[in-house]
Amino acid sequence: MDIMHPKIVIGTNSWGSPLYEQVVRGSAVDEGTLAAAVQEALDQDVALFDTARAYGLGACAKIMGRVLPDEAHVSAKFTPIGRHRAGRLIDSFERDARDLGRDYLDVYWLHLPSDIEGNLLEAVALRQVGLIGHIGVSNFSLAECQLAQEFLARFDVPLYGVQNHFSLVSHGPEELRTLAWCQEQDVRYWGWATLEEGLLAKASLRLASLRDREQRLARLYSVMETVGNDHGINLAQVAIAYCRTRGVVPMVGCRRPAHVREAADAARVGLTHTEVELLEQAAELCGVEGISGSCEVFRRLMSRVRTGAGTRDDLGRSA
Ligand SMILES: NC(=O)c1ccc[n+]([C@@H]2O[C@H](COP(=O)([O-])OP(=O)(O)OC[C@H]3O[C@@H](n4cnc5c(N)ncnc54)[C@H](OP(=O)(O)O)[C@@H]3O)[C@@H](O)[C@H]2O)c1
Repeated sequence: MDIMHPKIVIGTNSWGSPLYEQVVRGSAVDEGTLAAAVQEALDQDVALFDTARAYGLGACAKIMGRVLPDEAHVSAKFTPIGRHRAGRLIDSFERDARDLGRDYLDVYWLHLPSDIEGNLLEAVALRQVGLIGHIGVSNFSLAECQLAQEFLARFDVPLYGVQNHFSLVSHGPEELRTLAWCQEQDVRYWGWATLEEGLLAKASLRLASLRDREQRLARLYSVMETVGNDHGINLAQVAIAYCRTRGVVPMVGCRRPAHVREAADAARVGLTHTEVELLEQAAELCGVEGISGSCEVFRRLMSRVRTGAGTRDDLGRSA
């Protein structure tokens, strides 16, 4: 697996206790199934797993520590919540490394655009002593990505990647500009929630708000089905192939070996320009927005803080 050119990334934000998995995904899988999914990822040469401290309410990194062999690659994030304090990113890395049972992480991300320079400086320090391979930023606007890149360049460190929300129903003008910039700058663009938490796979949906959106996506599903039939792939795979064709590295939440296999197969499918256009037109006509992430809450809070409508303490309570 070439970390500089990953085909897909396996997302782990639903890996947790049986109760947690039931709540977030409506079903739980045992650790044996996760281990089999990991083995499938190794067999398919896509063993790159993304995590963050909050995933599984803290349990995810520990599970990964138990089921991931050394040859699997790991991406983890520092989530800056509350008041900035020097040393927090390094503390977070140390906790992650301990839970994951590793002394080196392939990619470390700044999860939100908070105290960008202070936090990146700590990531640079980790990279300089060989504890992380690459530095990325997540949920950043284009201007924030540029700032991060310029800051890292002062230390001769390239910006590895941007990890933002991107899917067939979530790719606004800002995301498209950011993607184009990444492509120009040889910065990887990882798109999170490629399947919109199952909405684009017509998986059994836990949230009523997603079930409501599903009904409004009939036109898109129909185009996805036609495109999928032409390539011999299913709906989830069309959503994944769409991102790949757009030049986005799809991040797919997988807990089962079959899902890993399907994602790896989909990453090998290139859609035509016409197919991409048809899919995007159908998505736009449905007028359905994708899921919101914690980054939207974070940005709303930041703008309240900047305009004086909220206080910095709101951030610590709500992000
Ligand atoms: N940087 C950030 O701020 C941020 C934010 C959100 C997410 N992320 C990353 O992005 C990753 C992906 O997002 P996500 O996990 O929330 O959701 P997702 O990948 O959009 O969707 C996961 C859902 O799709 C289902 N699924 C997966 N493969 C399938 C297939 N082949 N056929 C049918 N259904 C399939 C899963 O089924 P099961 O229920 O059976 O597992 C699950 O219900 C996360 O795990 C995380 O690593 C990053």
